[in-house]
Amino acid sequence: MKNQNYKPCDLVIYGALGDLSKRKLLISLYRLEKSQLLEADTRIIGVDRLDETSAGFVEIAHNSLIAHLNTPIDDEIWGRLSNRLSYLRIDLTQPEQYLQLNAVVDSEKRVMVNYFAVAPFLFKSICQGLQSCGVLTAESRMVMEKPIGHDLKSSKEINDVVEEVFQEDQVYRIDHYLGKETVLNLLALRFANSIFTTNWNHNTIDHIQITVGEDIGIEGRWEYFDKTGQLRDMLQNHLLQILTFVAMEPPADLEAESIHMEKIKVLKALRPITVRNVEEKTVRGQYTAGFIKGAAVPGYLEEEGANKESTTESFVAIRVDIDNWRWAGVPFYMRTGKRMPNKRTEIVVNFKQLPHNIFKDSFRDLPANKLVIHLQPNEGVDVVMLNKVPGIDGNIKLQQTKLDLSFSETFKKNSIFGGYEKLILEALRGNTTLFLSREEIEQAWAWVDSIQDAWAQNHSAPKSYPAGSWGPIASVALLARDGRAWEE
Ligand code: BG6
Repeated sequence: MKNQNYKPCDLVIYGALGDLSKRKLLISLYRLEKSQLLEADTRIIGVDRLDETSAGFVEIAHNSLIAHLNTPIDDEIWGRLSNRLSYLRIDLTQPEQYLQLNAVVDSEKRVMVNYFAVAPFLFKSICQGLQSCGVLTAESRMVMEKPIGHDLKSSKEINDVVEEVFQEDQVYRIDHYLGKETVLNLLALRFANSIFTTNWNHNTIDHIQITVGEDIGIEGRWEYFDKTGQLRDMLQNHLLQILTFVAMEPPADLEAESIHMEKIKVLKALRPITVRNVEEKTVRGQYTAGFIKGAAVPGYLEEEGANKESTTESFVAIRVDIDNWRWAGVPFYMRTGKRMPNKRTEIVVNFKQLPHNIFKDSFRDLPANKLVIHLQPNEGVDVVMLNKVPGIDGNIKLQQTKLDLSFSETFKKNSIFGGYEKLILEALRGNTTLFLSREEIEQAWAWVDSIQDAWAQNHSAPKSYPAGSWGPIASVALLARDGRAWEE
């Protein structure tokens, strides 16, 4: 065991036989086991309403690893992980059934970590069940993830239900993007390197772009997605979280409270988008049939289970202004969509052009420097800069070059984990820094609700874009109006 600095846990997964558990949680637990990051005495208790035994759960977990791990299963690691697993059949809507937990959970020796891998309508029953069976202590924790509501009101309702049983410091709200290596690296990049720390403001930065493109479509999630849309599904959480890490002031330290406080300040400074400026500041898109990597794919309205009349957006682009001292006059352009040409998540920090060019003879219009942070795939950081082309004849010739730091090349010996491993580990360790506070979520909803309301008032239909493109033409125009262009 590499990290002995946390008390062993009883990790109870509600919805253990569901998709999230099978696709993400069990896989991540295997990877943590492989890296010897699970405390020896930690137990994993799967809870679901299906009639299963512990042996059956072990088999289901094994099959999930076969289906989703992408590497061969190591028998020794699997042996260690499977020894931790057990199963309880509980109908989550029946409070008396929670009593079974008392026989399994040992609050003296272990911290109870309750992972709610179920839809939010069940949160109330689980909270009440846990409270009535008396298994919780002040040390117990609860972990939940999106959707934490679909607007401010419903998000408050969920948080109120949870708050009746758990204190704020016991609640771990996940945004899996905050577990991604490159998002965390933003802290290091910004606050451990003086070249960036001193140049991270309106004096030197022209504008910032955040792109989260996915090549996948709706993947059989029509029911959920059509009610939600890309603004709520991706921008309200993942993109705004990335934005807060890029834009926040230096926190006093790495403690959860210090970081949460700085992120909230950014969210509070987002200039509201209302019915008066929504057409100018946002673009909604919906994909039509097209090609992804050479293969034909259907349009949004032709997906399985589709309502042909749907006006839900599968793409959104927004110009965001942050009204504070640091970012005055520096727009943040964000875009995210399904059925883009490829999976690509990146942040591009575009520095200002120099005021005067002494190299006119070889380069008439000196391009500005850029810092490109690749979140996925190919995690890494590039600095785009100008260099002299070697040679001794004639004028100085310049060429745009890249200082290229690929994580997998540079840190060959270190594994790059997905977001869930890091977040599960932090929940087991009891560190809330990478989780969202209630205030953050509510602040983000308040800002997003205003955009959603403005769209509704305008009855604005989404603009179409062919699958396999980077969104509607209007998204190009959003930047072109300001004399800028998306990084391609
Ligand atoms: C989820 C969204 O939160 O994030 C999905 O609900 C999306 O629609 C997914 O596909 C993207 O996550 P990642 O880690 O693959 O970028």
